[in-house]
Amino acid sequence: MKKKNPFARLDRFFSIIEKTGLALTYGDVRLRTGYSETDPKDADISTHFSRNVPLKCPLVSAAMDTVTEAPMAIAMAMFGGLGIIHKALTAEEQASQVRRVKLHLNCLIEHPICVREDETIGEILARRQEKGHDFHSFPVLSTTGKIVGLLTRNDFDVCNSPKATAAQAMTPFEELVVAREETSVENAYEILRSNHKKILPLMNESRELTGMFVFSDLKRIMSGMLSQYNVDADGHLRVGAAIDVGPSELLRAEMLLQAGCDVIVVDKAHGDMRPVKDMLQDLKALKRKYPGRDVVAGNISEPESAVHLAKWGVDGIKIGQGPGSICTTRDVAGVGCPQVTAGFNCAKAVRGMGIPICLDGGITKSGDIPIALGIGASSVMMGLMLAGTDESPGEIKETKKGRVKVYRGMGSLPAMKESWAARARYRQGDTPKDKLVSEGVESVVPYKGAVIKILEKMAGGLRAGLGYVGASSILELQEKADLHWLSAAGQAESHPHDVSVTDETQ
Ligand code: XMP
Repeated sequence: MKKKNPFARLDRFFSIIEKTGLALTYGDVRLRTGYSETDPKDADISTHFSRNVPLKCPLVSAAMDTVTEAPMAIAMAMFGGLGIIHKALTAEEQASQVRRVKLHLNCLIEHPICVREDETIGEILARRQEKGHDFHSFPVLSTTGKIVGLLTRNDFDVCNSPKATAAQAMTPFEELVVAREETSVENAYEILRSNHKKILPLMNESRELTGMFVFSDLKRIMSGMLSQYNVDADGHLRVGAAIDVGPSELLRAEMLLQAGCDVIVVDKAHGDMRPVKDMLQDLKALKRKYPGRDVVAGNISEPESAVHLAKWGVDGIKIGQGPGSICTTRDVAGVGCPQVTAGFNCAKAVRGMGIPICLDGGITKSGDIPIALGIGASSVMMGLMLAGTDESPGEIKETKKGRVKVYRGMGSLPAMKESWAARARYRQGDTPKDKLVSEGVESVVPYKGAVIKILEKMAGGLRAGLGYVGASSILELQEKADLHWLSAAGQAESHPHDVSVTDETQ
C-alpha cells in the first residue's frame, strides 16, 4: 500500500501556486486554523538547527556585525536558541567570542584559568582583558602547581597596587573552602551555600587543582533554570560561528572548533557554487577530528541548490537570497526568490534526508515564524528583530527620533569597507574599496532594551500559532500546515486597520 504523504496539504497548495508562476513570501499567506487540543503554553517548540545541534526554541541570531557577538549568543542559547558569531573579526577574536559563550555557564570548570603566585595584579588584569574573560575568579598556583590561594573580584577591588603579587592580594589557602575532586553538584551547592562562598576549588590528595564550581552556575542548575537553556553534553551553552571559503577560512574553522564551536556556518550570499563545494569537501576531514560538530552552508533559494548542498555533505541548509530587511541583492543583481516559496521548495527537495532547514531573513513579526516552520523549516534566523537590543554590538545613539542603534547589512558599503569577510560574502574580497558594489544598506533601528523581551514575544507568537493550527509540536505543525493565499484586501485586513494605533509596542 502506498504510504500517505504527511505533507499532502502543503504540496497541493504549492503545486497550484507553481502553475501561476508566482513566488510567495510571509505577507502573502496565512496558516489555516484547525480543531485544536493544544494549549499554547504546553506546545513543544524544540527542533534542530543542524543534524547534531538541537534547539529548545527555533530562534537563531544572524551572523552580522551589528547582531551577534558573545553577549547575543549567550542570550540566545539561554533562551533555548542559538547565536552565530559573525566573521568580520579576526579568527582569534572570533574564537575568543566562542570561548566566552562556552565558558559563560560552567557546571564544572574542568580546566580553570589559573594564575601563578608571583604574577602581579597588573599583569593578570592585562591578560584578563586581552583574553576577553568576563570573570574575576582565578585560583592561584605555586610554582610546583599546588593551589595556594584564590583571587576573587573582592581581592582585585581592595588591592591598591598593580605591582602587588597574586600571593599578596589573594585569599590564602588556609581561609578557603575547598573540596575533593569527586564532589557532586548537589554537595558543592550545599557547601558553598552554607559557607556563603561563591567559588569552590576542587583538588586531589596532592593539593593539585582538578576543577572548580561557581555558585551562580550551580544555583541555576539546582533551580531547574538550565532545562530551558540550549546546552551541550558538558553543560556549556551551544554556539555557532560563520566562516567564508578558502585556505585561511579552513584555519579559522579549526580555531573555532578548538574553541568549542558547535556548528560552523559557511556563510555566502550564494551558497551553490564551486568554492563552497570545495570548502565543504575540506571541512569533511576537519569534522572527523571533531565528532558531533556540524557544518551548515548557505545561502540558497532554489531546490536544485538544496540538493547540491545535501550531496556535498552539509548538516544543515540556510535559505534566503534577498529577503533581509537590509538586503539589496534582489534590486542590485535582479535575483532571488521570495522566502516562503524558497523555503518550501528547498525543504521539499531534501525531505526525508534529516537535514534541517533554517529560513534566514525577512522575519518582521512573530506570525512569520509559524509560517516558516509550517512550510518545512526547522528554525529561523533573524537580524532585524534582534538588532538594537542591549545584547547587539554597537553603541546607543541619542537622536531627535529617540535612542537608536546601527543595524547594517554585511553587504553595505560601510561593512564591506571595514571587513574582508563582508566583502568576501559578496565575492568582492579582492575588489578595491572604491569599486565595491554594495548589496545591502546601513540603517538605524530604535533601541529596544533587553533581547529577552523580543524573544519572549517571538516564542509566544509561535506557540499561539501552534495552538490555532491544533499542533502540539513543530513536526505536527508541518503535517497539519495548509495555507491561504491572501489578496491585497486580505493582506490589508490582516493588519490593524481603520484605527489609530495608540499602543506602539506592537
Ligand atoms: P533580517 O530580515 O532579519 O535579515 O534583517 C538578516 C539576514 O540578511 C542577510 N544579510 C544580507 N543580505 N545584503 C543581503 O542581500 C546584505 O548586506 C546582508 N546582510 C545580511 C543575512 O543572511 C542575515 O542573516
